[in-house]
Order: sequence, then C-alpha cells, then structure tokens
Amino acid sequence: MDFDRTVTTFTEFFRERGHHLVVGDSLIPPPGDPVLFTTSGMHPLTRYLVGEPHPSGRRLVNRQRCLRTTDLDEVGDHTHLTVFQMLGSWSLGDYPGPQSLHWGFELLRDGYGISPDRLHATVFGGNDEVGPDTGPIRTWEELGVPVEPTRDENWWSNGETGPCGPDSEIFVWTGESPPTGTPTSDPRWVELWNHVMMRYRRHDDGSLHPLGPNRLDTGLGLERLLMVLQGKRSVFDCDVFEPWVRTVGDLWDLDGTSLRVTCDHLRSSIVVIGDGIRPSNTGRGYVLRRLLRRVLTILWRDDPTRSLIDLPSEPIDRTFHQFLQPDPGDVRDVLRGEEERFRSLLHRGRRVLSRRRTDEPLTEDDYRYLHDTHGLPRELVIDLRSERDATHVRNSSGDRA
Ligand code: SER
Repeated sequence: MDFDRTVTTFTEFFRERGHHLVVGDSLIPPPGDPVLFTTSGMHPLTRYLVGEPHPSGRRLVNRQRCLRTTDLDEVGDHTHLTVFQMLGSWSLGDYPGPQSLHWGFELLRDGYGISPDRLHATVFGGNDEVGPDTGPIRTWEELGVPVEPTRDENWWSNGETGPCGPDSEIFVWTGESPPTGTPTSDPRWVELWNHVMMRYRRHDDGSLHPLGPNRLDTGLGLERLLMVLQGKRSVFDCDVFEPWVRTVGDLWDLDGTSLRVTCDHLRSSIVVIGDGIRPSNTGRGYVLRRLLRRVLTILWRDDPTRSLIDLPSEPIDRTFHQFLQPDPGDVRDVLRGEEERFRSLLHRGRRVLSRRRTDEPLTEDDYRYLHDTHGLPRELVIDLRSERDATHVRNSSGDRA
C-alpha cells in the first residue's frame, strides 16, 4: 500500500464514522504552547481538547507534520525520524476510549490487513495518583489482543502542565522469529498507534484536575505504518524515502547510518524551511542550523568539496508534495547560505585553535572568548579539538611506524 492510499484509507475510515477532516497545521505550535515545535497532532487542537467547542464538531481526523528533537540521538536507526507525519483522530467530549480502540483494531485489521496476531497493546496500569485504566484493559481482552500494563510509559503529557492522561499504545510485531517478550522487553515490537484518554489537566502547582469525559487524542506515525504495510525493515526503505535514499546515495556514496542521518536531516530541514524557519542561533532556527551542520559534517568527513547545492530538485519537490507545503522558492539559497557560513566558521575555528599551543582542557573563559571574539560556538570548538586530537594521534602513530 503506497503513501497516498495509506493516508486516504485512514481519513476515509474516520470520515465514514462521522469525523470531520481538518487540515494539518505548520510545525510552529499555537501561541502559549510550551513546546518549540509541534510534536504531535494534538498541538493545534489543545484548546478544543480542554473544552472550547471546535467549529467542525466533536469528531475530527487529520494528518499533522511533527518534529521531535527528543528523538535526535536515535535518528540513524531504522524507526526514528526527526520530522514525520502523524495520522490522528479525536473525540472532543463525544465517544469513549474503548470505542476508539475498537475502531483502531478494526482499521488495522480490515483497512490495512494487519493480522491481529501481530498486535500487542500496552495500557496504563496505575500509579500513586491515578488508578489503572480498566476500560481499555477490558477492551483488549475482549478483542483477544495481549495487553501489558505499565506506569510511566503509558501516561501522556505535553509538558509539565496542560492536558494529560493515561494512554493505550498499539504495537506491531516486526521480528522474523517469535517474540521473546512484551513491548517493554522485546524491541521488535514497534509502537504504531497511541490512543490517549485526555482525562486530566495538570496545573502550575502540580495538581491534577478532571477535564471532562470522552476527550480522546490518537496518533499513528505514518512512516512507521508505511514500513509495516510495505513489508520493510526500515522506514528508509519505504516509498516516501525512496527519492532521498536514491539521490543522496548516488550523489555522495553514503551508506548505513550516515546515509540514514543525511536523508532524515535533509528531508526534515526542507520541511522546516517550508514552514518559514531560517537558520539562526536561537530557538527553531537553531534546530535547523544543527540539522544542516550535522549533514555537512558527515559529508565533509570524506570529501570537503561536497556541496548541498548539488542536491537534485526531485526529493525536495516530492517532500513538499507529501507534506502539503507550498515551495517557499528560496530553499537552495538557504542551503547555500548555511553551507558557506559553516565552511568559513570551520576555517576560522581551525586557524584560531591551531594558534593555541596548549593541550590543556579549555576553561569556561576560553569558550566565552572563542565565542564572543571569534564567533565559534562551543560544540564546534569541541568538535574541532577532537578533530585536532585525532590528527595528532594519526600523525604520531605514523611517526612510530
Ligand atoms: N498525543 C499522542 C502522541 O503523541 C497521540 O497523538 O502519541
């Protein structure tokens, strides 16, 4: 099942069950939201989840682009992405959690053809504040899906304060041999779809207050779903990544983790640029800068003449199409500008550091001086120092040989 059909199957399933299709928002969350980027489909809907009536009614479905910096260290494996799309459904005070789980099960089995014996659920098993989520536990038992109760893993919140509640996550089996454990002990269970019972709101003083009945927020990671439906072992082998993996692999002869990180970060950067963000030293622009610099660091490790300017238009155009974004028109200028800036910063950094005779660790004053006087950010100085140390080691072992 390809990208388009996977999306339509989801939205049509919920439309047939009375949900109104709303257009996903940009990566920039609404004012007052505590996060830098939209990390899940509920962000643009927060005010409706906490009680304001939504103009399109109490049942909604959508597709939302998301960015998670919390997963950055894991990007490069086969399932984590920086920017991804989330398919979501909402009950704004309408139907209860078990109904949502029944529909989730039905869509996975009948709409997407996933055999129920590949499914496992987890539910909130209770903690000192809130008791176990018995409704969803019963639902999974009725449906014959094995269920594992947990504590922290099945409590969803958007930050220190705001709407929150117990959730139930649906995992799918991706291993070739039988499982040796449950979702919390065998990583071949891949999390697919989270159903959050947004039952509470946490206030500034830490107290938890009921939000009202039947407020549900569900999110299904589109790229992971494609991986399962297309029978791949990696999100990077799915149709959405095909133009990236092919063009980046051909152009720069990368493979493995380097290829995956480069494809993820470039595609993510394109979407971030498409939402109007430009590289800078703070906030969202800084996240974009870090993504691009990480790509350039990988590319220049083997060949410092590599340039983002050589990237063909195909993956960029297809990404805007998949994320329903208009082309802002200056993507190449942004890439070129950041590349030039980083190149000259590296050049200056190497020159400044080579003048320092000492191998002593740098002090806070040193970092401040290098930053304030030479514009060299701390992490760049750290990278350049390790680069220099590695060259020393290579040279001195060469001397001995
Ligand atoms: N908010 C939930 C999540 O991020 C479901 O959309 O998983």
